[in-house]
Amino acid sequence: MSEQNFQTLGEFIIDKQEDFQYSTGELSRLLSAIRLASKVVNREVNKAGIANIIGKAGNENIQGEEQQKLDVLANDIFIEALSQREVVCGIASEESDDFIEIRASSNAHLSKYVVLIDPLDGSSNIDVNVSVGTIFSIYRRVTEPGTPVTLEDFLQKGVNQIAAGYVVYGSSTMIVYTTGNGVNGFTLDPSLGTYYLSHPNMKFSETGKIYSINEGNYIKFPQGVKNYIKYCQREEGDRPYTSRYIGSLVSDFHRNMIKGGIYIYPSTSQSPNGKLRLLYECNPMAFLAEQAGGKCSDGFRRILEIQPTELHQRVPFFCGSIKMVEKAEEFMK
Ligand code: AHG
Ligand code: MN
Ligand code: MN
Ligand code: MN
Repeated sequence: MSEQNFQTLGEFIIDKQEDFQYSTGELSRLLSAIRLASKVVNREVNKAGIANIIGKAGNENIQGEEQQKLDVLANDIFIEALSQREVVCGIASEESDDFIEIRASSNAHLSKYVVLIDPLDGSSNIDVNVSVGTIFSIYRRVTEPGTPVTLEDFLQKGVNQIAAGYVVYGSSTMIVYTTGNGVNGFTLDPSLGTYYLSHPNMKFSETGKIYSINEGNYIKFPQGVKNYIKYCQREEGDRPYTSRYIGSLVSDFHRNMIKGGIYIYPSTSQSPNGKLRLLYECNPMAFLAEQAGGKCSDGFRRILEIQPTELHQRVPFFCGSIKMVEKAEEFMK
């Protein structure tokens, strides 16, 4: 099959516009802005090694993480694309201390959407040419349009998401997203700068053979997680499972969705809430996972039903093939 036979992401967004209550085109414009920003980030990631953009930026983000140059660059690219096009009324990002209010230049441009974003996921993999990603999550604001956006607009439960997705800058670059009607994946043809629908209707298999967890932290894990890891390693039935851990949530999730598997970032003795951020990592991934027939929890509760209390809140994360997540939850009891 040649390119001409594949649907482009641009065509897909317009086709789907009618299926949804967003027929004003506002969400389509927002998704198009994300598509464009992802291509700019992709270009920067691709030349990271020769463009003096690898390495540390020299400051810390609000969560005490050392920012990499690409964290900052990707953050700037997404914020600029979204704010210049006036497709959102507010943005919250892993790399920005507080949420950002976007004021429209005219009433015609008043947007009802907020975006939460992890502009560059997998920072520790930038310098070593291993896949990184971007994660995004879109909500309708809860406060009155036209008034300044408030924290309340961002602290919504994941079940309220209108759309969510990720970009994986890997051996090929892909954008994978949902608007609550299944999950579709698009691959970038870099020579044309066009995303094509390559993975329609993506699904997690019910069970799988891959477990992904940073086992270096084993000693600090709760007993239930330790026992589950031993279960994965036992020779019995379809086990032992295979261990695969990239250290970029986006890439680990993407592989597990395609092959079947479970991803765990549990609480540890030092970090009782784990490491991953509820609002711009766990919620969007949980929405995608559920839309693909998978499951996500904090070991006990459905991720999408947790009421956030802070922008940069962390939460333990168990995500993947439904039977595997259920089994891990049994061990947590
Ligand atoms: P980020 O680069 O956006 O800060 O996210 C890093 C996250 C996630 O991508 C990854 O799965 C996890 O941190 C890896 O953490 P460890 O190095 O502790 O395993
Ligand atoms: Mn980070
Ligand atoms: Mn991340
Ligand atoms: Mn990040």
